[in-house]
Amino acid sequence: MPILKILKYPDPRLRKVAEEISLFDKSLETLSNDMLETMYKENGIGLAATQVDIHKRIVVIDVSEDRDDPMVFVNPVVTILDDKSLVPCEEGCLSVPGVNVEVMRPDKVKLNWLDIKGNNHEMHPEGLLTVCIQHEIDHLEGKLIADFLSPLKQSRLKKKATK
Ligand code: NI
Repeated sequence: MPILKILKYPDPRLRKVAEEISLFDKSLETLSNDMLETMYKENGIGLAATQVDIHKRIVVIDVSEDRDDPMVFVNPVVTILDDKSLVPCEEGCLSVPGVNVEVMRPDKVKLNWLDIKGNNHEMHPEGLLTVCIQHEIDHLEGKLIADFLSPLKQSRLKKKATK
């Protein structure tokens, strides 16, 4: 299976909004497998299709310590259950290498998604998965951790990245 090329900040393609998936065929399974392989090779804990220049709503995640719990989320939707309960996390991103950004995110959320066969699922994620799925959904919306930095830090980062 091919390793996919990961777009790097400030590539404008990272800003595209991904489209919902409605076709659950073999190519979707192939895509999810390629994304997982790419994520593992790059030592990431999550990867959104946007990052490999495919603008469809699919993300892969593995937040397990042993890297043996691959998860695939199609059309994932997070519903915030308590917008006052925010938790900080130092986030990194394969598309924004070399920086960690502290992001505050809600930690009481409900997650709905489809699997690659098109079946509905729902859960209340905990811990790192809660952070990671919100980070990946941001990618599908064209949003990056760099956007959480101050304007000054953003312009420094952009300069460094385009050198
Ligand atoms: Ni990322």
